[in-house]
Amino acid sequence: METLTQDRPKLGVLGTGTMGSALGSLWARRGYPVVFGSRSPERASAVAASAGPTASGGTYRDAAAHGDVLILPTLWEHTEEVIRQAGSLEGKVLLDCSNPEGSDGHTLMVGHTDSGAENVARWAAGARVVKAFNHVYAEIVNTDPVFGAESASVLYCGDDPDAKAIVARMGMECGFDMIDAGPLVNARLLEPAAALMVQLVRVMGLGPGNVALKLLRR
Ligand SMILES: NC(=O)c1ccc[n+]([C@@H]2O[C@H](COP(=O)([O-])OP(=O)(O)OC[C@H]3O[C@@H](n4cnc5c(N)ncnc54)[C@H](OP(=O)(O)O)[C@@H]3O)[C@@H](O)[C@H]2O)c1
Repeated sequence: METLTQDRPKLGVLGTGTMGSALGSLWARRGYPVVFGSRSPERASAVAASAGPTASGGTYRDAAAHGDVLILPTLWEHTEEVIRQAGSLEGKVLLDCSNPEGSDGHTLMVGHTDSGAENVARWAAGARVVKAFNHVYAEIVNTDPVFGAESASVLYCGDDPDAKAIVARMGMECGFDMIDAGPLVNARLLEPAAALMVQLVRVMGLGPGNVALKLLRR
């Protein structure tokens, strides 16, 4: 499989919700060429206009055609349909930050013996899926991953080493502490971590801009 060698791969963002806007804008601010795709190309253009001069808007298919790296920031119930509308994702790095959440926002619809990311890999034939940023709140992406002397960890997993290296480099460039959490099957563990974060933020009241996971190492 070909490795992307350019410093700033072309990005396609498959949705303009809270997380899609946050992640796409994060890299657009660093000069990545970003196409935001949406059901509403007008909304995508508006998000792109505030993201910076290297960003533009279009349909899901436009974003998928543009990007070497695609970001999948969809609500679970729409994920398969968005992938279908995006067209062929063969060979694309697919950064899956979504979670298979139920409508209550914290019940996982898939788990233990399967994961959202593994479903995504089955739906997006030939894509190089990397689960990443699913447990990081958009408010952290929009502000600062640094907490005092530490930076927020992003645990990521996938089966394609080159794809994982690309995502890790993109995250490190933005100040995140990128942690390789193994093969894609470990998304079964990372998706419940996101559900835990939702509990901490929404139920325990810690606030989305104030908390992030940190893996301590020595
Ligand atoms: N918000 C966070 O802080 C955060 C953090 C980590 C992970 N996530 C994950 O990211 C995913 C999106 O969360 P979000 O908070 O960004 O949600 P959101 O603001 O409600 O965004 C919904 C996303 O789904 C897309 N979508 C496609 N078809 C849709 C339809 N028929 N109805 C509604 N939306 C549709 C939207 O794209 P268009 O409207 O542009 O077509 C948009 O990108 C979830 O899986 C969540 O677990 C969120």
